[in-house]
Amino acid sequence: MFLVLDGVLTPAEAAALHGAAETLPFDDGRKTAGAIARAIKANDQAAPSEGLEAIRAKVAAALMAHPVFRSAARPKAMTPLILSRYRAGQTYGMHVDDALMQGLRTDLSFTLFLGEPETYDGGALVVADTAEERAFKLSAGSLILYPSTTLHRVEPVTRGTRLCLVGWVQSWIRDAGQREILFDLDRAIAEILGREGKTSLLDTLSKTRSNLLRMWAA
Ligand code: NI
Repeated sequence: MFLVLDGVLTPAEAAALHGAAETLPFDDGRKTAGAIARAIKANDQAAPSEGLEAIRAKVAAALMAHPVFRSAARPKAMTPLILSRYRAGQTYGMHVDDALMQGLRTDLSFTLFLGEPETYDGGALVVADTAEERAFKLSAGSLILYPSTTLHRVEPVTRGTRLCLVGWVQSWIRDAGQREILFDLDRAIAEILGREGKTSLLDTLSKTRSNLLRMWAA
């Protein structure tokens, strides 16, 4: 399941974080790349700093409070966010993310765009499944959540600067199909609650959701 979440940050919040990110020190992104990725990765990543920690904390809190993100990802743990920067001429070729990162199994990857799309050319995130490639270049403050099992790349930036936060989730629910069933149940339960209130149907569906979660969580 690919999910676009609009407005994880308000435009004002995204602009403030973009402005703060521009002032931070950056390192060559190849420092964190494995042998295969190093050959195709050309970007910069924010170096450790108090400013970076403040941005990470703000965005992580916004994500963990976002009901659709929580429903779709069922996050058990999340890696520290990486603030990545692509300037003109930079790109990240086709790759798959590491399965294990910092003690976590990466089930879901996400990219949160900090800059407005018209401020740079290129820089779309392109995710491939077996049938097609899909390109995502979202408005500032919006996020694409996608399975870490996929091949993906970042198109070359040809003008301006692309600033994004990227991160990985280990989900309570390892299997993507099971996660989607729970996501659908969340939506169905919310719809019934809104339409009919707390009925016996709602109770049965809530029980089913809870027991599936109990059965599948790991
Ligand atoms: Ni990647």
